[in-house]
Amino acid sequence: MKPIQQIKQPILKEMELFEEKFKESMVSSAPLLNRITYYIVRRKGKQMRPMFVFLIAKLVSEGGFDERTYRGASIVELIHTATLVHDDVVDDSNRRRGFFSINALWKNKIAVLVGDYLLSKGLLLSIDHEDFDLLKLISIAVREMSEGELLQIEKARKLDITEAIYFEIIRKKTATLIAACCSIGAASVGADEETVQEMREFGELIGTAFQIKDDLFDYSDDKIGKPTGIDIKEKKMTLPLIYTLNHCSRKERAWLINSIKKHNKDKKRVKEIIAFVKENGGIEYTQQKMHEYKDKAVAILEKYPDSEYKKSLFTMIDYVVERKI
Ligand code: IPE
Ligand code: IPE
Ligand code: MG
Ligand code: MG
Repeated sequence: MKPIQQIKQPILKEMELFEEKFKESMVSSAPLLNRITYYIVRRKGKQMRPMFVFLIAKLVSEGGFDERTYRGASIVELIHTATLVHDDVVDDSNRRRGFFSINALWKNKIAVLVGDYLLSKGLLLSIDHEDFDLLKLISIAVREMSEGELLQIEKARKLDITEAIYFEIIRKKTATLIAACCSIGAASVGADEETVQEMREFGELIGTAFQIKDDLFDYSDDKIGKPTGIDIKEKKMTLPLIYTLNHCSRKERAWLINSIKKHNKDKKRVKEIIAFVKENGGIEYTQQKMHEYKDKAVAILEKYPDSEYKKSLFTMIDYVVERKI
C-alpha cells in the first residue's frame, strides 16, 4: 500500500466526508469563480493538512469528534489552496499538481482574486460558526505566511540570506500552517491549552522538515508535478546553497553570487550551480538538518498513548522526509 493510503487508513470515512464539505465550501455565485474552483477541486493535492487535523484530533480525543473538526480541516485546506494560487503568481510558476497553474491558465489578475476569494471563504467558515478559537489559530498562520513570503522576496533581492534567516522564512511561510493544522486538530476537540501548544510545536517541527524536503526537490530532476530548478531562477537561496556559500573559497563564492545575480535565467548556468552545490555537500547537510527536525517531532509524538492514529502520524512523519512528490 502507498504510504499516503496507509496514513489515511484510520480516517478514511472522515477524509471522504471532508472532500464533499471542502467542495461545498468553495461554491460561489460568480460563474467564473465556479469554473476555477471546479478546476481546483479536480486537481487536488496530497491533502496532508486535513489529515494532520483529523489524526491529531483523534490522537488527543481518543475517538469521536464533531463538525468543528471538519470545519478546521476545510479551513486549513482553503487557506493552503489560496496561498498556492498566490505563490505561483509570486514565483512566476506555470505548473502545479501536474498541470497548469491558475496564473498560467487565467493570468495573474484572476489568480490574485481567486486566492483572495479562497482566503475569505476560509475565514468566514469559522466566523459563521463562531469557531473563534480556531479562527485565531489560522489567522496567526495567515499573517506569518505573508511575512515569510515577503521576507523571502527581500532576501532574493539583496542576496544576503543567512541560515538563521532561512529557517525564519520557512517557519513562517510553511511550518506555521502545519502548526495551525495540528493545534486546530487538538483545539477542535476541546483539548487543554498545554496540549494545543504542544501540538503546535509538533506541527512546526514537522512543517519545517516538510519545507526542507520541498527545497531539496528543487535540486533534483524528479517529476513532482511542478517545476524544479525554479528557486535559483527566482534568486531563492535555500539551505543547500546557503551551506555551500559558507563552505567554499572566496573565488567560488563570488562566482556563485554573480551567477545568481546575473545569470539566474540561464539554464546552463543554473545546472552548473546545482552541480556545484551537489559536489560540495550542500544536499547531505540539508538532509541532515531535515532529519534533526523530524527527530524532534518524533520525540513529542512518542509521549502520547499508542493508537492507530499515532501509528499513522509516525508514517506521516516518515513520509514527509521520504516522499517522492
Ligand atoms: C506545497 O505543499 C507548498 C509547500 C509548502 C511546499 P504540498 O506539497 O502539501 O502541496 P499539495 O497540496 O500536495 O499540492
Ligand atoms: C512554499 O514555498 C509556498 C507557500 C508558502 C505557499 P515554495 O514556493 O517553495 O512552494 P512550491 O515549491 O511553489 O510548492
Ligand atoms: Mg513556489
Ligand atoms: Mg518549492
